[in-house]
Amino acid sequence: MLTRTTDFDKDMGNPVEPEPTMPWMQNRAVYPGFFDPITNGHVDIILRGLRLFDKIFVAVLKNPKKQALFSTKDRVAMIQEIFAHQPSIEVKAFDGLLVDFVRRQKARIVIRGLRAVSDFEYEFQMALMNRQLDPEIETFYMMPSVHYSFLNSGVVKEVFALGGSVAGLVPEIVEKKLREKLKQGRLSVGK
Ligand code: PNS
Repeated sequence: MLTRTTDFDKDMGNPVEPEPTMPWMQNRAVYPGFFDPITNGHVDIILRGLRLFDKIFVAVLKNPKKQALFSTKDRVAMIQEIFAHQPSIEVKAFDGLLVDFVRRQKARIVIRGLRAVSDFEYEFQMALMNRQLDPEIETFYMMPSVHYSFLNSGVVKEVFALGGSVAGLVPEIVEKKLREKLKQGRLSVGK
């Protein structure tokens, strides 16, 4: 017989019955990230997520410690514009613990993209730390299209700053905003 506990790990790894989840809670997920800026790899994961979840909250980390090219407001606005036609997507900025944000959205699932084995160690640590903080929240991993498996926000900024093309790698609005930053002299290698 399954026992009910809120901490799977403290129960020596025995399968446990989870706390009851309202069906509507299962259909909403949070996709968190820094998104400085959002790339087509992120967009691909969100679109894949929409096949599985009725509602996805894209959670943009406000992190004053991390140097960002785009302000939180700009990062949120770009994602809102990309998904303006998609009512199932809500974009919000957050700070503090991700698990607290997830709870506030009445969700229990965190979506993360896994591009390659090199992502695994960081993702494994983050998923288990989040589980330690809130055992009721599960992390759900999805692979982006192979076309984006080499892509991240850092490489996009670097290539663009050096005059390379990022067409097809980021949404048009992002390319436009990168061009503006370049004109303003705000986009340099390493930022
Ligand atoms: O785009 P990123 O940098 O891979 O996103 C990382 C993010 C925002 C998901 C992660 O840094 C995060 O969840 N930060 C919030 C603080 C937190 O909850 N930390 C504990 C989990 S490790």
